[in-house]
Amino acid sequence: MSREPFQEYDADLTAVLEAVWGEGFMSPGGTHEVDTYLQGIELHGFSVLDIGCGLGGVDIHLAKQHRVGMVTGIDIDSDLIERCKRLAHKHGLTRQTEFICVEPGPLPFADASFEVVTSKDAIIHIADKNALAADIYRTLKPGGWFAASDWLAGYEGEPSPEMAAYLIAEGLDFGLRSGNSYRLALEAAGFVEIDIVDRNEWYRVEARRERDQMRGALYECLASQVGSEFLDHEIDVWDKMIIALDQGQLRPTHLRGKKNQIAN
Ligand SMILES: C[S@@+](CC[C@H](N)C(=O)[O-])C[C@H]1O[C@@H](n2cnc3c(N)ncnc32)[C@H](O)[C@@H]1O
Repeated sequence: MSREPFQEYDADLTAVLEAVWGEGFMSPGGTHEVDTYLQGIELHGFSVLDIGCGLGGVDIHLAKQHRVGMVTGIDIDSDLIERCKRLAHKHGLTRQTEFICVEPGPLPFADASFEVVTSKDAIIHIADKNALAADIYRTLKPGGWFAASDWLAGYEGEPSPEMAAYLIAEGLDFGLRSGNSYRLALEAAGFVEIDIVDRNEWYRVEARRERDQMRGALYECLASQVGSEFLDHEIDVWDKMIIALDQGQLRPTHLRGKKNQIAN
């Protein structure tokens, strides 16, 4: 199976992301965002799949606060998976969590394995949204929910020059798609009760606060960890991201859909 081209989330980048976004998180908003996009979905005692678990912050939260039966976090990065396992051990949650390093491609799980499939800001890295939506649908039990957040494009076709400059500065492999593309992928897979909630207004404010913290309270400590050159680069990424957010080109978004109770 061919590996999608993908720049690693290395130790320096994850140090910056965790400092800004909290222990175990490589995406904004922390546990509050997780609770918001999962609001109203039954989790207690259920089997949950987390696609692109990163450092495991979502999974620890689901095990600790929502008392899921089992959360299975998958990621393509073996170093991150090891860090998830250490975090689960630190929190005494090794019995309700498992972390598996996977190859990009079809989800390595049997049909109807999970009551809930979630993902926080990771589907952006997976180019084929239609194939992924169909695969998520397959692995859900009838009546199960897919609920996630992701970075979406506020455009069809080519990005604005400012958005293009942000994507180059970020340097990660992003397969950005519009909300309409996600909706069509979820519909084609068979999902019902599809809901797509734009979070651009919230994150425009939040991103400025994060950037100011990086320039201010976090600067010295982070610069001693990752070096001022790398930190200045990341602050520049945030500056460019804020312009892309202001233009509406980059749109953090909550997504959900349900697998019909009577489904094959
Ligand atoms: C922005 S991070 C988000 C991590 C975590 N969900 C969070 O919110 O903190 C995206 C993650 O997706 C992972 N990833 C990229 N492509 C993937 C794929 N095809 N399958 C599973 N995980 C993938 C990356 O290794 C990275 O850990």
